[in-house]
Amino acid sequence: MSSQIDHLLTETRRFAPSAAFAGNAVADRSLYERAAADREGFWADQARELHWHTPFTTVLDWSNPPFAEWFADGELNVAYNCLDRHVEAGNGDRIALRWEGEPGDQRNVTYAELTDEVKRLANVLTDLGVEKGDRVALYLPMIPEAIASMLAVARIGAVHSVVFGGFSADSLRARIDDAGAKVVITADGGWRKGKVSPLKPAVDQALADRNGSGIQETVEHVLVVKRGENDVEWTDDRDIWWHDVVPQASADHEAQAFPAETPLFILYTSGTTGKPKGILHTSGGYLTQAAFTNRVVHDVHPETDVYWCTADIGWITGHSYVTYGPLANGATQLLYEGTPDTPHPGRWWELIQNHGVTVFYTAPTAIRSFMKIGRDVPQSFDLSSLRLLGSVGEPINPEAWVWYREIIGADETPIVDTWWQTETGAIMISALPGVTETKPGSAQVPVPGISIAVVDDSGEPVGNGSGGLLVVTEPWPSMLRGIWGDPDRYRETYWEKFADKGYYFAGDGARLDDDGDVWLLGRVDDVMNVSGHRLSTAEIESALVGHEGVAEAAVVGASDETTGQAVVAFVIIKSRYLKQNPVEGLGDELRRWVGEQIGPIARPRDVYIVGELPKTRSGKIMRRLLRDVAEGREVGDTTTLADTAVMSVISAQVK
Ligand code: PRX
Repeated sequence: MSSQIDHLLTETRRFAPSAAFAGNAVADRSLYERAAADREGFWADQARELHWHTPFTTVLDWSNPPFAEWFADGELNVAYNCLDRHVEAGNGDRIALRWEGEPGDQRNVTYAELTDEVKRLANVLTDLGVEKGDRVALYLPMIPEAIASMLAVARIGAVHSVVFGGFSADSLRARIDDAGAKVVITADGGWRKGKVSPLKPAVDQALADRNGSGIQETVEHVLVVKRGENDVEWTDDRDIWWHDVVPQASADHEAQAFPAETPLFILYTSGTTGKPKGILHTSGGYLTQAAFTNRVVHDVHPETDVYWCTADIGWITGHSYVTYGPLANGATQLLYEGTPDTPHPGRWWELIQNHGVTVFYTAPTAIRSFMKIGRDVPQSFDLSSLRLLGSVGEPINPEAWVWYREIIGADETPIVDTWWQTETGAIMISALPGVTETKPGSAQVPVPGISIAVVDDSGEPVGNGSGGLLVVTEPWPSMLRGIWGDPDRYRETYWEKFADKGYYFAGDGARLDDDGDVWLLGRVDDVMNVSGHRLSTAEIESALVGHEGVAEAAVVGASDETTGQAVVAFVIIKSRYLKQNPVEGLGDELRRWVGEQIGPIARPRDVYIVGELPKTRSGKIMRRLLRDVAEGREVGDTTTLADTAVMSVISAQVK
């Protein structure tokens, strides 16, 4: 980490906002002053930008930490805020979604049309028996029906759990079971990389008969959108085609008011153990901060902008900055189904050109892979509509930041590097475009109303010019309200480390520069970040040992030029297995296996077959040493190993 810090500190370029941008920016410096003077009052003002069926009289209740309540006696309907109120304000004809499928098919969906669709679907879900508080799992491609599904579930006070379409049937099963979902909404398939990638079969497999498994089946119905036109199997009393019920349903549906703390969604994310955590978010505070940050950080002008966040709704970025933030603000956005390089490597730039995208929000891993392909590709498209660029999900190295600005942003557009997490629900650290002078590589400052610190192990601030652990020192509106079904794990994971101070521990290392700006240095726990996606070492290890040939496994995240980190696995094969099976091809077989068990994003880049793993005397695997091997470095201090010779054996086997 120290070489990384030294490298970052040599970065001295600074970019002041242009007068033109600053003059028309949504954000202004007074936001900081207002938030500093009265933090809760500031958030109450932001919350009042929403429509409340019953106005709140209390702001924050922190009497039972770490369980916060925001605006608790207020009542609202999240979907009403994202839809009906724009229609009622006369903006029903504004396009909400400019959708483009991977094959190039297009659909524009206005606010009035989306509202109509969501009302119909809300009626369908109610007819299927979905009630307030029930969970609905979504396993969908990036199509307008996906957004409509999230909003319809929210509209009736139910709770959605979106599962990324790239996850396997097993991962889907685990998430359905943990949440106890009553209905699954899916599609036959969606377009990816030039062909239809089936989804429904994974749902079928996840729900396949498990008599004797001891787990109660909770799913009563599967609602299926026809998108891929691929053949699907059908379970008559369970499966329902969307097109058979939604268009026929009544479009009359009055949005009911729900208390601000009504659960809105569960989103599973990887932690340090094998079992993904169901992060729980609620309604009023979440929507307040998602909408506010989308307004001031993405500088959204709903009348004129075409906004595009490239995230899939299977991740938190898609929840807050595709569905909830932009729609609460009445923005027009591009929604794209497919991959960046299909059918040609300039696909994204072509979309920006053709749709006149003005605000673009993506991940560093994408930027780095475009850098690799070369500037000629983006430069052959007209990107002059762009006026603001954003980055999210992992640290953006200064080289990629500067390339992004020069090649995509015509050396002119501000870039906002936004730090946040599934747990924080919305952006926490970012420059404000038009206000902040930006620094390539630094996420910079907390957004107004957010209090963060970089502290040492005992919770004392490290001060400018030093590194430590990133904490949030005050509760914030869009903070997670818990881990689904596991309050103890919530407390232990995020609040125990600095319990005496009451700080939320984010799991990230960070450094403050001499100006007090924050530079993120990556996770300090056993969580990896591959292409901006969180993966846990333990989860992949447990998939590996689930293979009949594997006796033991250790997984590390090794730095990778394109994906930020890559999964590297060290496995010990059972000798019995080796007697009957050739060792050739076993690495590939294990890579494929992990892809099947968890999903292609978890597939290791490298699998090394070794004879032993480095362990401390108490049996803990020393991943730090394996990371040295995986990154081709000299192996660090081995004195705490039970057997100090083991690393030279492993290094030799890896070569
Ligand atoms: O390590 C940080 C990294 O992503 C983690 C959160 O991952 P997830 O919950 O999947 O949410 C990703 C999208 C919000 C953080 O703990 N991270 C996220 N944004 C940044 C970042 N690291 C550095 N810079 C960022 N801008």
